[in-house]
Amino acid sequence: VDHVEEVVRLERPATGGAVGRLGDGRVVFVRLGLPGELVRCALAETAARYARAEAIEVLEASPERVTAPCPHAAPGRCGGCDLQHATDRAQRDWKAHVVAEQLARVAKIERDVRVEAAPSAPTGSRVRLRALAGDDGALGLRRWRSHDLEPIEWCRVADPRLTRAFERRWPAGEVELRAIGPGEPFAVVRGAEGKRRDLRSLDGGPRDRAHSRVEVLGHTFDVSPASFWQAHRDAPELLTRSVLEFAAPQRGESAVDLFGGVGLFAAALAREVGPGGGVTMVESSPEAVADARRNLEGLRARVRRAEVTTTSVAIVEAGDLVVLDPPRSGLARGVAWALAGRAPGRIVYVSCDAATFARDVAILAEGGFRLADLRVFDLFPWTEHVELVGFLDRAPARRESAGEGASQTSP
Ligand SMILES: C[S@@+](CC[C@H](N)C(=O)[O-])C[C@H]1O[C@@H](n2cnc3c(N)ncnc32)[C@H](O)[C@@H]1O
Repeated sequence: VDHVEEVVRLERPATGGAVGRLGDGRVVFVRLGLPGELVRCALAETAARYARAEAIEVLEASPERVTAPCPHAAPGRCGGCDLQHATDRAQRDWKAHVVAEQLARVAKIERDVRVEAAPSAPTGSRVRLRALAGDDGALGLRRWRSHDLEPIEWCRVADPRLTRAFERRWPAGEVELRAIGPGEPFAVVRGAEGKRRDLRSLDGGPRDRAHSRVEVLGHTFDVSPASFWQAHRDAPELLTRSVLEFAAPQRGESAVDLFGGVGLFAAALAREVGPGGGVTMVESSPEAVADARRNLEGLRARVRRAEVTTTSVAIVEAGDLVVLDPPRSGLARGVAWALAGRAPGRIVYVSCDAATFARDVAILAEGGFRLADLRVFDLFPWTEHVELVGFLDRAPARRESAGEGASQTSP
């Protein structure tokens, strides 16, 4: 859109910014604003019923406003962190409001949501970061709603051991930085065409091999460069603990772990169910499957290399409980439906996206499950994102209608 500015009173948090109304009555999502504030905003996108904008001047500030710790978290600049201008508490309240609203609107579930802080401070909390190198080789991150790069001298949210990667030049394209576990950090350079993959040390030299080795709750995991690993340093332990808390695996039970990665949850489940029980993990990435097989050696666990589909999800029938942790896109509709039809009584759903989580929970609810418990963690500090762990069990059968309940028809 042409450069249009407007002064707007902001009302409430939403995905994409604080919500206000433009003079013509349209809803506007204002990035870098806070509820209650009066801001001058620059429109970035307009559609028939809504617009997107950035706050470029704060005319009346919220008491929750703070100076963003990073100079790149500013209008027109880095799109990585959207909430650095709010106190930690206000960030978590923001996210809790958005999750509660998604659950209410999409899944018709009314629930008080509290977002729990991670033990580590936001600064330096990410052990895995996708950066981009521009044509000049300098590392940066994408600007908000743009293909342009914001060059960055160091990223505040990244593990400090990754800082030196920002001091040198890289081949143009994607550069994923990994400081997972205590070993030497490294970079996975994917290049502009995205296909080729080179391993480099952080000073740019080639590395023949690189993998990470990391301990979580007493178990050691090997993670090869192409395998998924949680980005926040606290996530593996925090999520494993809450999966175990909700799943409550018992000795001798069998568990199914869908989208299992390198076996993070499967290892913990296998230890709990013991030699008389077992875990079956399903994962589609060949690298992650190879890692998982190594990581689960000696435990009663099987790793199946497969996509989770309407057919393969039938495997959950063999379990007493199922854990799933799909990518941001969640489950395909048919898969959620098939899962509801075949799952045992306990489902633990781990998700990094409140919208697809709410959508899938709604489908599972149609299939007879209810969201019995929920924990939400602030594992993406300074951004709008959260990590959710939901516990679903079978909803108690509803009485046919008042007055005709079985308990009242005594012989
Ligand atoms: C969010 S990660 C979770 C991994 C693991 N639970 C953890 O916390 O480390 C999702 C995993 O699902 C895998 N995946 C993505 N799509 C899949 C599919 N359709 N079927 C099976 N696995 C898939 C990815 O390779 C990735 O390892």
